[in-house]
Amino acid sequence: MSKGIKTRVKTAKGRKISSTRWLERQLNDPYVKQAKAEGYRSRAAYKLIELDERFGFLKGAERVVDLGVAPGGWTQVVRKRLPRAAVVGIDLLPADPIDGAILLQMDFLADEAPDRLREALGGPADLVLSDMAANTVGHPQTDHLRTMALVEAGLDFAAEVLKPGGVFVAKVLAGGADNNLVAELKRRFTTVKHAKPPASRKGSSEWYVVAQGFKGRAEDEPFGEG
Ligand SMILES: C[S@@+](CC[C@H](N)C(=O)[O-])C[C@H]1O[C@@H](n2cnc3c(N)ncnc32)[C@H](O)[C@@H]1O
Repeated sequence: MSKGIKTRVKTAKGRKISSTRWLERQLNDPYVKQAKAEGYRSRAAYKLIELDERFGFLKGAERVVDLGVAPGGWTQVVRKRLPRAAVVGIDLLPADPIDGAILLQMDFLADEAPDRLREALGGPADLVLSDMAANTVGHPQTDHLRTMALVEAGLDFAAEVLKPGGVFVAKVLAGGADNNLVAELKRRFTTVKHAKPPASRKGSSEWYVVAQGFKGRAEDEPFGEG
């Protein structure tokens, strides 16, 4: 990817230095440019593309859940790669419609969210993706705990809806999932790997955990029962 000419942004009156730096980084970011050129709504789309290049979890997926879907880059990638796949996404924020996807605007941590997602999905999932991140409050331990709570809720949900052999991909922070979460992932999946795709900014503490080969539910009850 060409670096191009660097754009500098003058600090405007009223704009904080941090937001000026953010704007400068956006304007000079090759992934932002590529996303614009290829019609993806987010540079995050390339994180999923790169994770899939390494782990190959998209191939053959028919039902996909996208937790933290907005603005929709990951779901666009899934639909582009798998034009027949049904995708159900959820986010606190609204997202513009995407052909072939059902997008729910609600809190994934709300009691009714898992049922609403299962209803919209209409059958067991091959793949549960979570790019959810809690809004940071600037207190590292609190931010870490809040994001890990989202990952744990995502894993509980994945364990309810995945087909045996299914895959769970989730954003984690600070070098990876903590020991309890890794132990739980290993109990439920045959392989568990951490990855930081090149599109994930080097300075960020964001990583992804990729858990493949869901071992199935204990009682292996048919989907929707129990
Ligand atoms: C990094 S963005 C996702 C970007 C997306 N993968 C894409 O490619 O467009 C993270 C999203 O997680 C959402 N999120 C955070 N907490 C959530 C929650 N409790 N329920 C639903 N969505 C949540 C945020 O609103 C935000 O839109």
